[in-house]
Amino acid sequence: MRLILLGPPGAGKGTQASAIVKRYNIPHISTGDIFRMNIKENTPLGKEVKHYLDAGLLVPDELVVDIVKDRIKKSDCKNGFLLDGYPRTIKQAEVLDEELAKMGTKLDAAINIFLDTQLLIERAVGRRLCKNCGATYHIKFHPPKQQGICDKCGGELYQRDDDKEETIKKRIEVYINQTKPLIEYYKNREILVNIDGSQSIENTFDQIINALEK
Ligand code: AP5
Repeated sequence: MRLILLGPPGAGKGTQASAIVKRYNIPHISTGDIFRMNIKENTPLGKEVKHYLDAGLLVPDELVVDIVKDRIKKSDCKNGFLLDGYPRTIKQAEVLDEELAKMGTKLDAAINIFLDTQLLIERAVGRRLCKNCGATYHIKFHPPKQQGICDKCGGELYQRDDDKEETIKKRIEVYINQTKPLIEYYKNREILVNIDGSQSIENTFDQIINALEK
């Protein structure tokens, strides 16, 4: 399965990605996670992209496309992959299509999770992540058993810098202007799958699996 996950910030892409990759035994490739890891480790790439993430803006295409091109050629992607948060512009989508065509393959589905703006803000503001294993929680919708502590590994939970309300509003605006046009792009290629992200985590996952396996 070669899949991409589309949707506005806070729609539930990362949450669903964790379950989808387990089911299909494919790698989860999140460009947002790659950037955050580089920022944490203070690499040259991290230094270059930090201000874009802090401001809620997209990292320029030229800093993203080669990372993904290299990543999908790795041996663990032989039987497929799930791209979470890539592509985010028409240019990125075109580069991906070209690269896959060179590899003699193509995407199987573009999963588009849609959700009302107010709920997006509530989900992003309440999100908490484990510093140690990256597991995602929500203070209201998916709380850990013990406040501030990861259920899976006991790590400390934190809030992402770009999950402040003002930055989230900016990210949603950027999504509408630069990423939403991809819905039409993949609809025209007849691989678009629309998923209602307002349902529970389990119901959203069921919708995705039903659509992929029907
Ligand atoms: P990225 O990390 O990709 O963030 P995003 O797209 O803004 O998405 P989020 O991670 O905010 O949300 P999500 O949809 O994964 O939601 P989640 O599952 O966590 O990108 C960050 C930044 O990196 C960008 O702003 C940009 O600067 C840069 N970047 C990354 N890729 C790029 C690219 N290709 N090009 C250029 N720049 C790029 O869920 C949210 C919360 O809701 C969680 O707390 C969760 O527990 C909860 N939740 C999830 N599902 C449900 C549910 N069904 N019911 C109740 N609660 C739920």
